[in-house]
Amino acid sequence: MKKNDYIKIFDTTLRDGEQSPGASMFIDDKIKIAKSLDAMGVDIIEAGFPVASKGDFESIELVSKEVKNSTVCALARAKKKDIEVAGLSISKAKNSRIHTFIATSKLHMKYKLKLNEKQVMDHIKSSVKLAKKYTSDVEWSCEDASRSKRDFLYKCIELAINSGANTINIPDTVGYSVPFEFSQLISDIKENVSNIDKSIISVHCHNDLGLAVSNSIFAIISGARQVECTINGLGERAGNASMEEIVMALKTRNDLLPFKTGIQTKLITKTSKLVSKITGFDVQPNKAIVGANAFAHESGIHQDGMLKHSNTYEIMTPESVGLKETKLVLGKHSGKHAFSVKLQELGYKISKKNTDKIFSNFKELADRKKDLYEEDIIALVEDEIIRVNNHIKFISLIVNCGSEGSQKAELELEVDGFVKKVSSIGQGPVDAVFNCINKLVPNKAKLNLYQVNAITKGTDAQAEVTVRLEHEDKSFVGKGSDIDTLVASAKAYLHSLNKIYIKTENKLSIKALNG
Ligand code: KIV
Ligand code: ZN
Repeated sequence: MKKNDYIKIFDTTLRDGEQSPGASMFIDDKIKIAKSLDAMGVDIIEAGFPVASKGDFESIELVSKEVKNSTVCALARAKKKDIEVAGLSISKAKNSRIHTFIATSKLHMKYKLKLNEKQVMDHIKSSVKLAKKYTSDVEWSCEDASRSKRDFLYKCIELAINSGANTINIPDTVGYSVPFEFSQLISDIKENVSNIDKSIISVHCHNDLGLAVSNSIFAIISGARQVECTINGLGERAGNASMEEIVMALKTRNDLLPFKTGIQTKLITKTSKLVSKITGFDVQPNKAIVGANAFAHESGIHQDGMLKHSNTYEIMTPESVGLKETKLVLGKHSGKHAFSVKLQELGYKISKKNTDKIFSNFKELADRKKDLYEEDIIALVEDEIIRVNNHIKFISLIVNCGSEGSQKAELELEVDGFVKKVSSIGQGPVDAVFNCINKLVPNKAKLNLYQVNAITKGTDAQAEVTVRLEHEDKSFVGKGSDIDTLVASAKAYLHSLNKIYIKTENKLSIKALNG
C-alpha cells in the first residue's frame, strides 16, 4: 500500500439514491445536486439510468452540460438499446463514462436473466465493446458479485478488461457480505485475475446489514481505488455506503488509513441538507457526520470535558464538515445587498430574479419572526428552489381552528396558470387544509406520513413538514417550510403532488380545475 493513495469517489445519489422508494427528483433538483457534487470534488457522478424514461435521459443530458469537473456517468444494462441511449445521454459531457452491468451469480443468472454462463459472457464482451464506441471510459459491474461463483467471476472480470473496461466494479448488491470476507474477495480478485492491473477496482456496497461503509473501507485496504457511495447513504432498500462517512473516516483515521480523496469536506453538510430537502428524506438525528446530533454534547460530563478541551469528546471538528455554529443573521432592516452577500457566503449562486423573490420572502419572514438564523435563510432558498417548476403552486391559506367550532380552511392555488379557491372543513386544521387540496387537485394518492420538525429553536421557529404520499404503489415525499405550520403542511402536500404530477406524466386529473 502506497502512502496516501488516491481513492476515487463515485457518487450514485442521482441513480441508486433515486431508486430509494419515494426519493424521486425533478430534473432541476438533479442539476442542483450534480452541481453541488461537482463543487465538492466528486470524481464521477452517476447521473442516472437513461433508458428508464425520457425524463431520466434529459436529466443526464443536462447534468452533462452543467458539470464542470466531474466525469458524468450513465448506467446501462448489457443491452444494445441501453448502451446506445447511455452513449447519447452523456455525449455533451466534458468527461463521460458508461457503466454497464450484468449479474454473475447463479441465482440472478438462472431466475432473473435466464441465461447460462456462456450467454452471460457473450453479453459482457458485446456490451463493453459497444460502450467503448461511445466513450473511452467504460466501467463494468458484475451484479451480485459477492454471491457469485469465484472461478466464473474471475473469468468474467478478465473478459470485461480484455473487451475494454477500465474500471471493474464489485458490488455487494444485496448487502450480504461482512468486512473480512469482502476484503478477501478483493484480494482474491487481485491474485486470480491475470489482467487486473489494467483496470481500477471499484466497490459498490449496500447497507442491508449496516456494513456498507465498513465493507467499502476493508475493500480499500485490499486494493480497491474507487468507492461508490451516496450522500446521506441514500439508495435501494437500506441504502448505499454513505459518502460522508467513508470520506471522513479516511480523513480522520489517516494514521491507519493512509488514503486521500478529492472531496472538499467543508461542503458535506450543505450537500447533505440539499439532498434531504429535495428527496424529502430526513437524516436521522444520530446519523454519523451529518445527523443533527453528530456534534452535539448533551450530558454534563461531556459538556464539561468539551469546555476544557474539545478533543476530549470530538474526533473531528464541526467546521471540517462545514457545520457552523448557529448564528443570528441579518434582520428586518437588512437590505438586498447584505442579503445577496449572505446567500453567496452560504454558497448559493442564484439568479437576480430568484434572489428578488427569496428576498421578498425573507422580508415577510422577518416581519413575523424575531430572530433569523442561517437555517431560516437556507430553508427559504431551498423552499424556492424545489418549487420553481411546480405545476401546482400555493398562493394563500386561511384556517379557522381552536377548541370552538369546526375546523375550516380556505385555500387558493395556482394550477398551470389558473387560480382557484376552495374551502373545506376537516377533522382538525391539517385535515381541512388537505381536504381543500384534494378538492382542487382530485387524486387517489394515500397519505402515508405526515411529520413536523422545527427548523430552529424558539416558538416562532419555522416548521418543516414532510408528507409521504403513495400513488400507484410508488411513494412520493414532499417537504414544505413556513413559520405557519399549516402553510408548511400545504406546501409539503403540494410538493408530493407535484412530484406525482411529473413522474406519472400528468395523470392527476387536474384538468377539472381549469374550467
Ligand atoms: O447494487 C448493484 O449491484 C448496482 C449495480 C447496477 C452496480 O447498483
Ligand atoms: Zn446498487
